[in-house]
Amino acid sequence: MNIRDLYINYFVSKGHKQIPSSPVVPENDPSVLFNTAGMQPLIPYLMGQPHPYGTRLCDYQKCIRTNDLDSVGDKTHHTFFEMLGNWSLGDYFKKESIMYSFDFLTNVLKIPVEKIAVTVFEGDKDIPRDIVSADMWKSLGIDKNKIAFLGKEDNFWIAGDTGPCGGDTEIFYFRSNDEVPSKFDPNDERWVEIWNNVFMEFYKDEKGNVTELPKKNVDTGMGLERVAAVLEGVDDNYKTSIWKNIISKICDIAKVNYEGNEESIRIIADHIRTSVFISADPSSIKPSNTDQGYILRRLIRRAIRHAKKLNIDINSNWEEQIALEVINQYKDYYSELIENKDVVLEVLKNEKIKFNRTLEKGLKEFEKITKDLKDKVLNKDLAFKLYDTYGFPIELTVELANELNIDVDVEGFKEKFKHHQELSRAGSTAKFKGGLSSTSDMNIKYHTATHLLNAALKQVLGSHVHQKGSNITDERMRFDFSHDSKMTDDQIKQTEDLVNKYIEMALPVTKVEMNKQDAIKSGAECMFIEKYPDIVTVYTIGDVSKELCGGPHVSNTSELGHFKIKKEESSSAGVRRIKAILE
Ligand code: SER
Repeated sequence: MNIRDLYINYFVSKGHKQIPSSPVVPENDPSVLFNTAGMQPLIPYLMGQPHPYGTRLCDYQKCIRTNDLDSVGDKTHHTFFEMLGNWSLGDYFKKESIMYSFDFLTNVLKIPVEKIAVTVFEGDKDIPRDIVSADMWKSLGIDKNKIAFLGKEDNFWIAGDTGPCGGDTEIFYFRSNDEVPSKFDPNDERWVEIWNNVFMEFYKDEKGNVTELPKKNVDTGMGLERVAAVLEGVDDNYKTSIWKNIISKICDIAKVNYEGNEESIRIIADHIRTSVFISADPSSIKPSNTDQGYILRRLIRRAIRHAKKLNIDINSNWEEQIALEVINQYKDYYSELIENKDVVLEVLKNEKIKFNRTLEKGLKEFEKITKDLKDKVLNKDLAFKLYDTYGFPIELTVELANELNIDVDVEGFKEKFKHHQELSRAGSTAKFKGGLSSTSDMNIKYHTATHLLNAALKQVLGSHVHQKGSNITDERMRFDFSHDSKMTDDQIKQTEDLVNKYIEMALPVTKVEMNKQDAIKSGAECMFIEKYPDIVTVYTIGDVSKELCGGPHVSNTSELGHFKIKKEESSSAGVRRIKAILE
């Protein structure tokens, strides 16, 4: 049985309810792009809200950490991982938590006691030294020389700057064939942290004030890939059973051995696996130039670049074969991979086709540029050209340049990028305003129809749809929105029907003024947040649409007549355009 199943079975046998993994894109937390820890979806419950499954929970949670994305390629980094976790929400505390961890490690995973060492919080002026945990470890048979007391930097855990937090005890495993030293030195790299038990008793607010939580909780987390590497006795994480099939698939496709090609193979394996999980997520993320979409784009494009390095025929279905291997491996645990299989394959393929168009030329251009460089610095204009004309994410340019010991003016690039965005934004805002300059009755109707179309597209295509522009005359409306591929006839029909349904529902259109931040928090849709004043007008249409908007609008959707889509076409990369009329 694999570690994941052993873990869940163990905690279920100890009265824990298994909860399903949450999506990788957090559902109600715009402050982070991805879930980075198993506890993230549980924050409201750690804060005191009762959990529907009770007070003892366990799960495996898909997590993504991208701060080290560019380090992927070595033996240990990966962007996606699964975190095994068990929680007590005001139920058991330190002693039982430590007892369960010890029992699982020594009796289920059969790790010898002498290979285990722990760190415990040494305390500070506010919180006492954690004698309870240390004593518990000792009573279970951990020698006192294998217990290290450490300060806040090491043994106090909080996700980010604010939230539930507390001291922790971390469990280490001696990963080496050397004789186990009698005294534990947490700085000795042969000791690898495998499990973290956080005793969440406090809450830290924005001002830095720390208060007690209504209940004392336990939050533990164990990284599956790391534990697998440790137990399987490999020092290259990518040599565990987790990666075996994916890597042998890549080797087959490229007709190469893992040895000698490790870096590119690890990058392809990791990046395709993460891309599969992101694009199968219910949030329907598509490659784009912002937020999660940009991470997805970077992952896919970097994988493509390394596939090319291995001489894989980019035009073949290599990415599909690898993605199918990933799906096959995880489908029994994450059903969304099967449910959204077609979407996943389409996202990968579309992005591949898009990048392929410019990759070859871009690489030639890169070669030309770098051959002529005098001072080994690639300036901002050249970096921007590679981005703008050839679709090279700046990180890719940096990676290519580093291989030749060339620096890139990344700061300069970022400034130029920002300036460019402002220009194009100003351009489309002007156009948007222009579209609304005359306010005939027909014009007002089209304006309301724009909001309904925006809402309907989100329903039909997914929440990645955002307005990118709009233009209205008395005769027709034009609406640009983020979406990657051509809409099918069926999707067009569904969208049209949905807008007409909203019209028939005779929904009231209401207007309120509010503070901009509150408006965003309330989930109101808006195109260019910076362009709005502090107090904004929010138009709500029944419960189907809520947008920041200057108006004007009709007062009830029943005034609009019949909505018809005349044309759906590409507007620019990643942006589609719909022309529609009201009859
Ligand atoms: N929240 C802790 C961690 O991420 C334990 O789950 O390590």
